[in-house]
Amino acid sequence: MANVNTRLNVAPVPPDEIFALNGAYAVDTFPHKVSLGVGVYRTDDGKPWPLPVVQKAEKQLVVDNDLFRHEYTAIEGDVPFLGIARDLMFGFEGKQTEEEAKARIGSVQTVAGTGANHLGAIFLAHHMKPRSVWLSNPSWANHQTIWELAGVPRKTYPYYHAATRSFDFEGMMSTLENDAQEGDAVLLHACAHNPTGLDPNKEQWMAIADLCERKNLFPFFDSAYQGFASGSVEEDAWAVRYFFNHKPDMEMCVAQSFSKNFGLYGQRVGAFHYVTNRSSTSIRDIVVNNLCHLIRGEFSMGPRVGCSIVKKVLTSDELTADWHQDLQVMSSRIKAMRQALYNELVRLQTPGTWEHIIQQNGMFSYTGLSPKQVYALKDKYHIYLLKSGRASISGLSEKNVAYVARAIDDVIRTEN
Ligand code: LMR
Repeated sequence: MANVNTRLNVAPVPPDEIFALNGAYAVDTFPHKVSLGVGVYRTDDGKPWPLPVVQKAEKQLVVDNDLFRHEYTAIEGDVPFLGIARDLMFGFEGKQTEEEAKARIGSVQTVAGTGANHLGAIFLAHHMKPRSVWLSNPSWANHQTIWELAGVPRKTYPYYHAATRSFDFEGMMSTLENDAQEGDAVLLHACAHNPTGLDPNKEQWMAIADLCERKNLFPFFDSAYQGFASGSVEEDAWAVRYFFNHKPDMEMCVAQSFSKNFGLYGQRVGAFHYVTNRSSTSIRDIVVNNLCHLIRGEFSMGPRVGCSIVKKVLTSDELTADWHQDLQVMSSRIKAMRQALYNELVRLQTPGTWEHIIQQNGMFSYTGLSPKQVYALKDKYHIYLLKSGRASISGLSEKNVAYVARAIDDVIRTEN
């Protein structure tokens, strides 16, 4: 660039793939375009779905006409909301008394799940100084960015076995066993692993918890899909609750998002929970105090509207039951679409094996399509997915699934 006079030293960074794809999809005028990129729930008509329970709660909030609804909250956030978020995550049915269990957890409100991951990373970078954070290979790309910005060196543990399209449990365990150092953080997806859709089973989770305890690793859970993946909030919190209840001498943390399970994507609702071990509950308030210091210096406090909606729902038995219904609707439609895509590919005798599409869990399928096939889907058929082959299954519908299957069939046969 000639004649630029600036004090800045900036070089372009690659655009975020997920949101760049979303932008490209938005301006594509092709009538049969299909978005399988960003992880957002869509109806069978391809439309956003403000959850019916959220709409009810919004109406009640209008009637309440709370005079304080636009006021500041506290730096830690909306305190009743934080108790509700914590109870939803941890459940409190383990061997510790409820009081003992709650005394271990310090919670603050965050700018959704990304903000919770970011705050947790910055907090650990300042106050625990892990030599490395271990991310699954692959992981949500933003994990790399978040930990890079926190200045913590990133390493990866194997997670995906491409040949069998399955979870590489042995690879994960042996890498962490041999290469992770005491005090390192290990990023774990609580359920519905993004992008692979492959989760450890319960025995495997137990072994991961044992390994973390034995090697003194710090489990950092990212929980973005509680209730959304299986339809059950208990089932999707199983791993977090197991670590919490069965490893009371271990410290850990959870980044909790309400974007998917309440469909509150743009409202940025989330929480960060730091869990002390049972002998260190006396530091809990100091942890919260330090988290508040970081929050105050960055965004003062989390936003208000979205967490008022969550609070309204989860403080009413009737609305909570409605919410569980809505979770069933979303998780069942996604399962049905996995099955429909699988059936179509089998019917077309598309080369390859496709069982993994129905075996994977949650919002995404790691289809196994190559970057070249992904580009061909976009260029020829206006079907958008990530170059890793990750497809957001909720972008499929009764109306487009046959089109998508035919397109996949075509790009695979053309290449062969
Ligand atoms: C995704 O992975 O597509 C979603 O979690 C949206 C995001 O923030 O990346």
